[in-house]
Amino acid sequence: MRHLLDTRTLSREDALLILDTAEDMAATQQREVKKLPTLRGKTIVNLFYEDSTRTRISFEAAAKRLSADVINFSAKGSSVSKGESLKDTAQTLQAIGADGVVIRHPASGAPARLASSGWIDAGVLNAGDGTHEHPTQALLDAFTMRRRLFGEASRGRDLDGVSVVIVGDLAHSRVARSNLWLLNALGAHVAFVAPETLQPYGARDWPVTVEHSLDAALRAKPDVVMMLRIQSERMHAAYFPNEREYARNWGLDDLRLARLSDRAIVMHPGPMNRGLEISSAAADSPRSTVLEQVANGVSVRMAALYLLLSGERRQTPKDSE
Ligand code: NCD
Repeated sequence: MRHLLDTRTLSREDALLILDTAEDMAATQQREVKKLPTLRGKTIVNLFYEDSTRTRISFEAAAKRLSADVINFSAKGSSVSKGESLKDTAQTLQAIGADGVVIRHPASGAPARLASSGWIDAGVLNAGDGTHEHPTQALLDAFTMRRRLFGEASRGRDLDGVSVVIVGDLAHSRVARSNLWLLNALGAHVAFVAPETLQPYGARDWPVTVEHSLDAALRAKPDVVMMLRIQSERMHAAYFPNEREYARNWGLDDLRLARLSDRAIVMHPGPMNRGLEISSAAADSPRSTVLEQVANGVSVRMAALYLLLSGERRQTPKDSE
């Protein structure tokens, strides 16, 4: 692996390698001294063109626990707001000697462009691009599912036979797309539940069951219910009549929570709109994995950074792939 751009092209073997390496990383995070020397001398740049709390601090913590030097670059307050292009920014990072670039960008495909451009020599990790993909989020979600559902027996296992219902603003969600591809590679069954207006374009050609009724989907007793945020910032039209109606039909409220099977878990990538897609009781219940997802995110990103960057630095930008 040179870059981590998507889960669509990630093989089952590579996915399991990342998840099992994340188990090793998680074990080191129980120690009093959490820092490992693995990436000492390497420089990782966090290049964030979009707001982020969890993902940015998680990548920063992961890089620091591997002893890398971390440079945080947010587009606000940088020359990007003066109109600098991705190419010029990339060439600046190359001149600085970045070994890894973690990029979040509002344009789908920006990380792939950076990886294939020849502008930089660094390994590229996609931290969310537009509505396209968010691979480390899907990996930390799969890691969390494995641990919750199989406990000590997680290592080496895929998610064969696990049923996952993903609910909400699927149309705008890179988290849903990355989860779909990864969960399929790992053998899980995925259903997308949302009003028709929030189903992704093209979903009927994907390996997913498209459903409209949350109550019907929950009657099938799924193992995992993943709620997604309504992404108002990406909505430039009316996708549902009003928030009350959305919450009533597609929100995970206290009644629906009570009807879940005993082993079912409730997930949310954050940030949550409490009272809209998820009630506070659901978000804070023992079934909820919201904070575990954040903690597991550090181990999974340590694994990804380690697998991508611990080898020898490449000689020229052109010899990739
Ligand atoms: C998600 C994102 O930014 O894609 N959040 C995250 O990374 N934890 C989902 C969202 O913004 O709703």
